[in-house]
Amino acid sequence: MAQDAGIDTPTADGGSGDGALDGGGVRRRDFINIAAVSAAGVGGLAVLYPLISQMAPSADVLAESSTEIDLAAIQPGQAIKALFRKQPLFVRNLTAEEVKKATDVDNNASEFSTLRDPATLAERTKPGKQNWLITMGVCTHLGCVPLGAGPGEEMSRGAFGGYFCPCHGSTYDTAARIRKGPAPRNLEVPPYEFTSDTIVKIG
Ligand code: FES
Repeated sequence: MAQDAGIDTPTADGGSGDGALDGGGVRRRDFINIAAVSAAGVGGLAVLYPLISQMAPSADVLAESSTEIDLAAIQPGQAIKALFRKQPLFVRNLTAEEVKKATDVDNNASEFSTLRDPATLAERTKPGKQNWLITMGVCTHLGCVPLGAGPGEEMSRGAFGGYFCPCHGSTYDTAARIRKGPAPRNLEVPPYEFTSDTIVKIG
């Protein structure tokens, strides 16, 4: 007759027939095996948990993964510096003249062809919001913070009216495109969206 695995049948002399039985009929050897497997399982979990908890983003990283900025107080011609993922962010309200300066380049094929990192102002802003130039404030040469967005830096925006990095002379225009100096690329435009007319969510 078939027997349940791990359950022994007592012999006629009252013995176990295969080692000692405990009161419930489970062999001691089986108990030792079960205990060993259980300990291995706990050990496995103990190792796994720190690995999983290291992989999960911490609360402060999650909190900084997006930033909301109220644009209402930023007047045309003004800019502010903010922080996005621990890096400087420039938010600038371009004047009509600054928008025109950028789009004049876009509409002039020979001048546009001289851009080191070609992109139009429309491609670097949102439709209907071309005056809002939102970029990282990190020079693409060696990572310095260019002048032009901080308080009192309006006169330090360089020959193209955008931003100027005094470290090695990188000069950006009013679409934050690199126009002169060693920086290889335009100031980066982060992912963002307008959640209302005056609130922008970065990230
Ligand atoms: S870091 Fe900006 S020009 Fe070198």
